[in-house]
Amino acid sequence: MSIIKAADLAYVRVRVPDLDRAERFFTDFGLQRSERTANALYMRGSGAAHHVHITEQGDPKFVSVAFTAHSEADLHTLSQVPGASRVENIEEPGGGKRVWLRDPDGHGVEVVHGIASLPPVAVTHHELNDAKVGLRRAGTLARYEKGPSNVLRIGHAVLMSPDPRAVVEWYRETLGLLWSDEVVDPEGNLVLSFNRLDKGEEYVDHHVLLLQRGAVRGVNHVAFEIRDVDDLMLGHEHLQAAGYDNVWGVGRHVYGAQVFDYWMDPWEFMYEHWTDIRGILDGTFESVVGPWGAALPERFALHAHE
Ligand SMILES: [Fe+2]
Repeated sequence: MSIIKAADLAYVRVRVPDLDRAERFFTDFGLQRSERTANALYMRGSGAAHHVHITEQGDPKFVSVAFTAHSEADLHTLSQVPGASRVENIEEPGGGKRVWLRDPDGHGVEVVHGIASLPPVAVTHHELNDAKVGLRRAGTLARYEKGPSNVLRIGHAVLMSPDPRAVVEWYRETLGLLWSDEVVDPEGNLVLSFNRLDKGEEYVDHHVLLLQRGAVRGVNHVAFEIRDVDDLMLGHEHLQAAGYDNVWGVGRHVYGAQVFDYWMDPWEFMYEHWTDIRGILDGTFESVVGPWGAALPERFALHAHE
């Protein structure tokens, strides 16, 4: 029995030295400015979340990953965990309440509740025709605009750790995350651990938190859902034309089964666009080799930002 069950992933907080440059990157990536203060940038998707990413001004650093709690009572429960902060007001745009924790690798974990919602931003969806179903958009006109992808929401975070077992057990015990898939090497060491939210009988994304074995304690990447495959390709070309650094993609994953595209920001923080992820209720096991797209680059596998 976990201490609480997290409701969702809320945002990730990093530090970089140039907020103007960060805002340009995230705008090209497909996020929208929610608020900007003297020392922090709050970016949103087109969903109702007030922000899905926070950039603070400072030396490059991964600060924290934030999860939403179902209730303020859950925050009070968490505040009893050894090392947890008291329940505090969030003195930032969007407000709300928060408890700070630290995972076994020392990363900040914010658990939040009551942050303001915003009216969602309308996004046009075009149905995709295929041979089985036929003409889903018969009689309608589909026109796609060149430009950034449309980020809808934050989907998952990936942390690297020399001891992923201890870290993932902490997240499961503290936030009620559930096992989806694990990859173990021939010596029995945990290499990858995919974990999802526990929403009972509701299908959820295959993973909201992935722990990856590696030398560095840090964030490998943070992933955002975009509209569809066309939106992903439009965003790919937009980021490429703007001169950004494409790490891996476009391709199709095995475990989450999503179409992916990974980009590095100017400070080596890595962000993913994805669409068409697998929704699951139970854990499974499959091969790690994808059906299409480039093989896993070593650069990707070894990457983490402290
Ligand atoms: Fe990912």
